[in-house]
Amino acid sequence: MTELDWHQARAALEWQAEMGVTEAILDAPINRYDLPDKAAKPKPAAPPVDKPPLIMEPAPEIDVVALATQAAAGAQDLDQLKAALAAFPHCELQRGAKSLVFSDGVPGSRVMIVGEAPGRDEDIQGKPFVGRAGQLLDKMLAAIGLDRTRDVYITNILPYRPPQNRDPKPDEVAMMMPFVKRHVELAAPDVLICMGNHSCHAVLGKRGITKLRGQWDQALGKPVLPMLHPAYLLRQPQAKRNAWADLLELKAWLGTPPAH
Ligand code: URA
Repeated sequence: MTELDWHQARAALEWQAEMGVTEAILDAPINRYDLPDKAAKPKPAAPPVDKPPLIMEPAPEIDVVALATQAAAGAQDLDQLKAALAAFPHCELQRGAKSLVFSDGVPGSRVMIVGEAPGRDEDIQGKPFVGRAGQLLDKMLAAIGLDRTRDVYITNILPYRPPQNRDPKPDEVAMMMPFVKRHVELAAPDVLICMGNHSCHAVLGKRGITKLRGQWDQALGKPVLPMLHPAYLLRQPQAKRNAWADLLELKAWLGTPPAH
Protein backbone atom coordinates (compact mmCIF):
# COMPACT_ATOMS: atom_id res chain seq x y z
CA MET A 1 0.00 0.00 0.00
CA THR A 2 1.41 3.40 -1.03
CA GLU A 3 2.01 5.91 1.75
CA LEU A 4 -0.58 8.74 1.87
CA ASP A 5 0.45 12.27 2.65
CA TRP A 6 -1.44 14.26 5.29
CA HIS A 7 -3.90 15.82 2.79
CA GLN A 8 -4.68 12.53 1.10
CA ALA A 9 -5.16 10.80 4.43
CA ARG A 10 -7.53 13.54 5.60
CA ALA A 11 -9.49 13.48 2.32
CA ALA A 12 -9.79 9.66 2.61
CA LEU A 13 -11.02 9.97 6.20
CA GLU A 14 -13.58 12.64 5.27
CA TRP A 15 -14.81 10.51 2.39
CA GLN A 16 -15.30 7.54 4.75
CA ALA A 17 -17.16 9.73 7.25
CA GLU A 18 -19.42 10.98 4.44
CA MET A 19 -20.10 7.36 3.45
CA GLY A 20 -21.33 6.69 6.98
CA VAL A 21 -18.36 4.87 8.44
CA THR A 22 -18.60 4.93 12.21
CA GLU A 23 -15.98 2.41 13.21
CA ALA A 24 -12.26 2.33 12.45
CA ILE A 25 -11.12 -1.16 11.42
CA LEU A 26 -7.52 -2.16 11.59
CA ASP A 27 -5.59 -3.90 8.82
CA ALA A 28 -5.30 -7.06 10.90
CA PRO A 29 -8.42 -8.69 12.49
CA ILE A 30 -8.77 -8.78 16.29
CA ASN A 31 -9.96 -11.95 17.99
CA ARG A 32 -11.95 -10.44 20.80
CA TYR A 33 -12.39 -13.84 22.50
CA ASP A 34 -8.66 -13.72 23.20
CA LEU A 35 -8.81 -10.27 24.82
CA PRO A 36 -8.84 -10.05 28.60
CA ASP A 37 -12.46 -9.63 29.83
CA LYS A 38 -12.71 -5.90 30.56
CA ALA A 39 -16.14 -6.35 32.12
CA ALA A 40 -14.89 -8.98 34.54
CA LYS A 41 -15.53 -7.69 38.03
CA PRO A 42 -12.63 -7.36 40.40
CA LYS A 43 -12.71 -9.97 43.10
CA PRO A 44 -14.07 -8.64 46.38
CA ALA A 45 -11.32 -7.81 48.76
CA ALA A 46 -10.91 -10.46 51.44
CA PRO A 47 -12.13 -9.29 54.84
CA PRO A 48 -9.31 -8.10 57.05
CA VAL A 49 -8.05 -11.02 59.09
CA ASP A 50 -8.37 -9.26 62.42
CA LYS A 51 -12.07 -8.32 61.92
CA PRO A 52 -14.84 -10.95 61.72
CA PRO A 53 -17.10 -10.54 58.64
CA LEU A 54 -20.09 -8.25 59.26
CA ILE A 55 -23.30 -10.21 59.86
CA MET A 56 -26.50 -8.16 59.46
CA GLU A 57 -28.88 -8.78 62.32
CA PRO A 58 -32.53 -9.04 61.11
CA ALA A 59 -34.54 -5.95 62.14
CA PRO A 60 -36.50 -6.76 65.29
CA GLU A 61 -40.19 -7.43 64.56
CA ILE A 62 -42.43 -4.70 65.94
CA ASP A 63 -45.76 -5.81 67.36
CA VAL A 64 -47.80 -2.86 66.08
CA VAL A 65 -51.05 -4.17 67.55
CA ALA A 66 -49.45 -4.29 71.01
CA LEU A 67 -48.12 -0.75 70.50
CA ALA A 68 -51.55 0.43 69.37
CA THR A 69 -53.16 -1.23 72.41
CA GLN A 70 -50.69 0.53 74.69
CA ALA A 71 -51.17 3.90 72.99
CA ALA A 72 -54.97 3.63 73.07
CA ALA A 73 -55.07 2.44 76.70
CA GLY A 74 -53.14 5.54 77.79
CA ALA A 75 -55.92 7.84 76.53
CA GLN A 76 -58.21 9.00 79.32
CA ASP A 77 -60.62 10.96 77.15
CA LEU A 78 -61.52 11.42 73.49
CA ASP A 79 -59.13 14.33 72.95
CA GLN A 80 -56.27 12.24 74.28
CA LEU A 81 -57.33 9.33 72.09
CA LYS A 82 -57.32 11.56 69.01
CA ALA A 83 -53.87 12.86 69.96
CA ALA A 84 -52.60 9.29 70.53
CA LEU A 85 -53.91 8.27 67.13
CA ALA A 86 -52.30 11.28 65.44
CA ALA A 87 -48.97 10.48 67.11
CA PHE A 88 -49.10 6.77 66.28
CA PRO A 89 -46.41 6.35 63.61
CA HIS A 90 -47.09 2.83 62.33
CA CYS A 91 -50.10 3.31 60.05
CA GLU A 92 -48.81 3.71 56.48
CA LEU A 93 -52.14 5.23 55.40
CA GLN A 94 -51.30 8.33 57.41
CA ARG A 95 -48.62 9.29 54.87
CA GLY A 96 -51.04 9.41 51.95
CA ALA A 97 -53.94 11.03 53.79
CA LYS A 98 -54.65 14.71 54.13
CA SER A 99 -56.50 14.45 57.44
CA LEU A 100 -56.98 12.31 60.47
CA VAL A 101 -60.71 11.61 60.40
CA PHE A 102 -61.58 10.92 64.03
CA SER A 103 -65.27 11.51 64.64
CA ASP A 104 -68.31 13.69 64.24
CA GLY A 105 -71.53 14.11 66.16
CA VAL A 106 -72.04 14.20 69.89
CA PRO A 107 -69.83 12.11 72.18
CA GLY A 108 -71.91 10.36 74.82
CA SER A 109 -74.87 9.86 72.45
CA ARG A 110 -76.84 6.65 72.86
CA VAL A 111 -76.07 5.69 69.26
CA MET A 112 -72.53 5.27 67.94
CA ILE A 113 -72.11 4.59 64.23
CA VAL A 114 -68.96 2.80 63.10
CA GLY A 115 -68.24 3.11 59.40
CA GLU A 116 -65.43 1.72 57.34
CA ALA A 117 -62.94 4.41 56.31
CA PRO A 118 -62.96 8.00 55.10
CA GLY A 119 -63.39 8.70 51.41
CA ARG A 120 -62.22 11.74 49.46
CA ASP A 121 -64.70 14.23 50.95
CA GLU A 122 -64.07 13.00 54.48
CA ASP A 123 -60.30 13.27 53.94
CA ILE A 124 -60.71 16.86 52.75
CA GLN A 125 -63.06 17.92 55.55
CA GLY A 126 -61.54 15.78 58.31
CA LYS A 127 -64.99 14.42 59.33
CA PRO A 128 -66.63 11.04 58.79
CA PHE A 129 -69.62 10.57 56.49
CA VAL A 130 -69.78 13.99 54.84
CA GLY A 131 -69.79 12.91 51.17
CA ARG A 132 -72.74 11.50 49.21
CA ALA A 133 -73.00 8.44 51.47
CA GLY A 134 -72.89 10.70 54.51
CA GLN A 135 -75.70 12.86 53.15
CA LEU A 136 -77.81 9.75 52.68
CA LEU A 137 -76.90 8.67 56.22
CA ASP A 138 -78.20 12.00 57.52
CA LYS A 139 -81.50 11.43 55.67
CA MET A 140 -81.76 7.90 57.07
CA LEU A 141 -81.21 9.18 60.60
CA ALA A 142 -83.70 12.01 60.08
CA ALA A 143 -86.30 9.45 59.00
CA ILE A 144 -86.32 8.10 62.57
CA GLY A 145 -85.97 11.49 64.23
CA LEU A 146 -82.19 11.40 64.80
CA ASP A 147 -79.69 14.13 63.94
CA ARG A 148 -75.92 13.89 64.05
CA THR A 149 -75.64 17.28 65.71
CA ARG A 150 -77.77 16.06 68.64
CA ASP A 151 -78.27 12.30 68.86
CA VAL A 152 -75.45 10.27 67.34
CA TYR A 153 -71.70 9.90 67.47
CA ILE A 154 -69.88 8.74 64.33
CA THR A 155 -66.48 7.22 63.65
CA ASN A 156 -64.81 4.75 61.28
CA ILE A 157 -62.63 1.67 61.66
CA LEU A 158 -59.80 3.37 59.77
CA PRO A 159 -59.08 7.03 60.55
CA TYR A 160 -57.23 7.62 57.28
CA ARG A 161 -58.44 7.39 53.68
CA PRO A 162 -57.02 4.34 51.90
CA PRO A 163 -55.53 5.21 48.49
CA GLN A 164 -58.16 5.23 45.71
CA ASN A 165 -60.72 4.20 48.37
CA ARG A 166 -59.48 0.63 48.24
CA ASP A 167 -60.72 -1.86 50.82
CA PRO A 168 -59.01 -1.78 54.21
CA LYS A 169 -56.28 -4.42 54.55
CA PRO A 170 -56.48 -6.90 57.44
CA ASP A 171 -53.26 -5.64 59.04
CA GLU A 172 -54.52 -2.03 58.87
CA VAL A 173 -57.75 -3.05 60.57
CA ALA A 174 -55.93 -5.11 63.23
CA MET A 175 -53.66 -2.14 63.98
CA MET A 176 -56.56 0.29 64.34
CA MET A 177 -58.94 -1.91 66.32
CA PRO A 178 -57.36 -1.12 69.71
CA PHE A 179 -58.14 2.54 69.03
CA VAL A 180 -61.70 1.69 67.96
CA LYS A 181 -62.23 -0.35 71.15
CA ARG A 182 -60.96 2.48 73.34
CA HIS A 183 -63.07 4.91 71.30
CA VAL A 184 -66.18 2.91 72.13
CA GLU A 185 -65.21 2.75 75.83
CA LEU A 186 -64.66 6.50 76.04
CA ALA A 187 -67.69 7.51 73.96
CA ALA A 188 -69.80 5.08 76.02
CA PRO A 189 -72.82 4.65 73.70
CA ASP A 190 -75.77 2.34 74.47
CA VAL A 191 -75.67 0.77 71.02
CA LEU A 192 -73.26 0.37 68.14
CA ILE A 193 -74.34 0.49 64.50
CA CYS A 194 -71.86 -1.26 62.23
CA MET A 195 -72.23 0.26 58.79
CA GLY A 196 -71.42 -2.24 56.07
CA ASN A 197 -69.33 -5.35 55.61
CA HIS A 198 -65.92 -4.09 56.67
CA SER A 199 -67.19 -2.58 59.87
CA CYS A 200 -69.09 -5.80 60.71
CA HIS A 201 -66.06 -7.91 60.00
CA ALA A 202 -63.80 -5.71 62.12
CA VAL A 203 -66.18 -5.46 65.09
CA LEU A 204 -68.08 -8.76 64.99
CA GLY A 205 -65.58 -10.93 63.11
CA LYS A 206 -68.39 -11.86 60.70
CA ARG A 207 -68.89 -11.24 57.00
CA GLY A 208 -71.99 -11.10 54.84
CA ILE A 209 -73.82 -7.88 55.57
CA THR A 210 -76.87 -8.77 53.51
CA LYS A 211 -77.49 -11.67 55.95
CA LEU A 212 -76.22 -9.94 59.10
CA ARG A 213 -78.17 -6.71 58.66
CA GLY A 214 -80.93 -6.11 61.11
CA GLN A 215 -79.82 -9.01 63.35
CA TRP A 216 -78.81 -7.89 66.84
CA ASP A 217 -75.41 -9.04 67.97
CA GLN A 218 -73.01 -8.22 70.78
CA ALA A 219 -69.40 -6.94 70.68
CA LEU A 220 -67.08 -4.61 72.59
CA GLY A 221 -69.49 -4.87 75.49
CA LYS A 222 -72.37 -3.32 73.51
CA PRO A 223 -75.41 -4.44 71.57
CA VAL A 224 -74.55 -4.18 67.88
CA LEU A 225 -76.94 -3.67 64.97
CA PRO A 226 -75.36 -4.29 61.55
CA MET A 227 -76.82 -2.13 58.80
CA LEU A 228 -76.38 -1.73 55.06
CA HIS A 229 -73.83 0.93 54.24
CA PRO A 230 -75.37 4.07 52.67
CA ALA A 231 -72.80 3.84 49.84
CA TYR A 232 -74.25 0.40 49.06
CA LEU A 233 -77.76 1.87 49.13
CA LEU A 234 -76.69 4.52 46.61
CA ARG A 235 -75.63 1.72 44.26
CA GLN A 236 -78.53 -0.61 45.10
CA PRO A 237 -81.57 1.61 45.81
CA GLN A 238 -83.86 -1.45 45.90
CA ALA A 239 -82.13 -2.39 49.19
CA LYS A 240 -83.44 0.78 50.86
CA ARG A 241 -86.55 -1.06 52.07
CA ASN A 242 -84.27 -3.36 54.12
CA ALA A 243 -82.42 -0.35 55.47
CA TRP A 244 -85.74 1.21 56.44
CA ALA A 245 -86.71 -1.94 58.33
CA ASP A 246 -83.39 -1.77 60.22
CA LEU A 247 -83.87 1.90 61.03
CA LEU A 248 -87.30 1.10 62.46
CA GLU A 249 -85.68 -1.69 64.50
CA LEU A 250 -83.19 0.83 65.91
CA LYS A 251 -85.95 3.32 66.63
CA ALA A 252 -87.93 0.67 68.50
CA TRP A 253 -84.83 -0.36 70.47
CA LEU A 254 -84.12 3.25 71.44
CA GLY A 255 -87.68 3.55 72.61
CA THR A 256 -86.88 0.77 75.07
CA PRO A 257 -85.01 2.07 78.12
CA PRO A 258 -81.47 0.65 78.39
CA ALA A 259 -81.21 -2.45 80.61
CA HIS A 260 -78.48 -0.95 82.88
N1 URA B 1 -67.86 5.58 54.18
C1 URA B 1 -67.50 5.24 55.41
O1 URA B 1 -67.56 4.08 55.81
N2 URA B 1 -67.08 6.20 56.23
C2 URA B 1 -67.01 7.47 55.87
O2 URA B 1 -66.60 8.29 56.68
C3 URA B 1 -67.40 7.80 54.57
C4 URA B 1 -67.82 6.85 53.73
